[in-house]
Amino acid sequence: MKTLLITRSIAQPVLDQARAVFDVTVGSAPLTQDQAADALTRFDAILPTLGDTFDAGAFAAAQAHGIRCGVLGNFGVGYNHIDVAAARAAGVVVSNTPDVLTDATADLGWTLILATARRAGEGERMLRAGQWGGFGPKGTLGTHVTGKVLGIVGMGRIGQAVARRGHFGFGMPVVYYNRSVKAMDFPARQVPHLHDVMAQADFVVVTVPGGAGNTGLIDAAALAAMKPTGIFVNIARGEVVDEAALIDTLAAGRIAGAGLDVYEKEPFVPPALIALENCVLLPHLGSATVETRIAMGQLALDNIIAWSQGRALLTEV
Ligand code: GLV
Repeated sequence: MKTLLITRSIAQPVLDQARAVFDVTVGSAPLTQDQAADALTRFDAILPTLGDTFDAGAFAAAQAHGIRCGVLGNFGVGYNHIDVAAARAAGVVVSNTPDVLTDATADLGWTLILATARRAGEGERMLRAGQWGGFGPKGTLGTHVTGKVLGIVGMGRIGQAVARRGHFGFGMPVVYYNRSVKAMDFPARQVPHLHDVMAQADFVVVTVPGGAGNTGLIDAAALAAMKPTGIFVNIARGEVVDEAALIDTLAAGRIAGAGLDVYEKEPFVPPALIALENCVLLPHLGSATVETRIAMGQLALDNIIAWSQGRALLTEV
């Protein structure tokens, strides 16, 4: 039986299937670079996830001792915690879990758009603190969403799912920035520069993949291009945004608010961000539904089973 390390516990039905096919070890905390290197030398297959450090250093250290692992079946669509080039050079194939989490993540994007626009976090905090004085014509006024301009940064699967909901559900004109041209079955206007989306949209939603090419993409200048009434939402990766610049922007009231699901150094969330009323902060819940997490585990496992049977991976990256 081949050995499989699942770095964090996953849904029971998937775990049961894995145990029927592999000699399974289940981890409980993100792997450091040293632990990732060690795992690469000790297991035939690994099912890692966000937070595990499979960087070039981990592969180099593992190669020095002899790599045993042949596949990283990542749990998650984002794989910026894996150096795919280094994996390839070390003879390790890598897969991810696209599609199965698109709807859940887009729904979460909309949770943040609506919660931020309608000041739901603030309202709930006020009510729970016993500070609600009752209905009033001017109480906790938010921003209207229906019909406003929706801006998408990164029109991939998740960006399109957010945009689709905006167009069909909320009658929103959609503008987007994407490096390549995209064909969609609903109207959406591509603009040539990131700053065009930042400036034209009432709601900017970031859905680009993480990774070197997009680190710091949303910098102080991009944020400065937003309307003062604009709302910024990030459901991609924390490092895509200059977090310090975002905090300054929010603290100075230069935009109306932000809804964030991801942070630069998760699980650390800067106290300065937590102190701000005009943002809604979620703990990386994008794909966190029971159904989606089962589907993600299943796809990650199916990739590893395909590898173990000498078949092509289903969703190789
Ligand atoms: C979660 O953030 C993922 O990449 O699947």
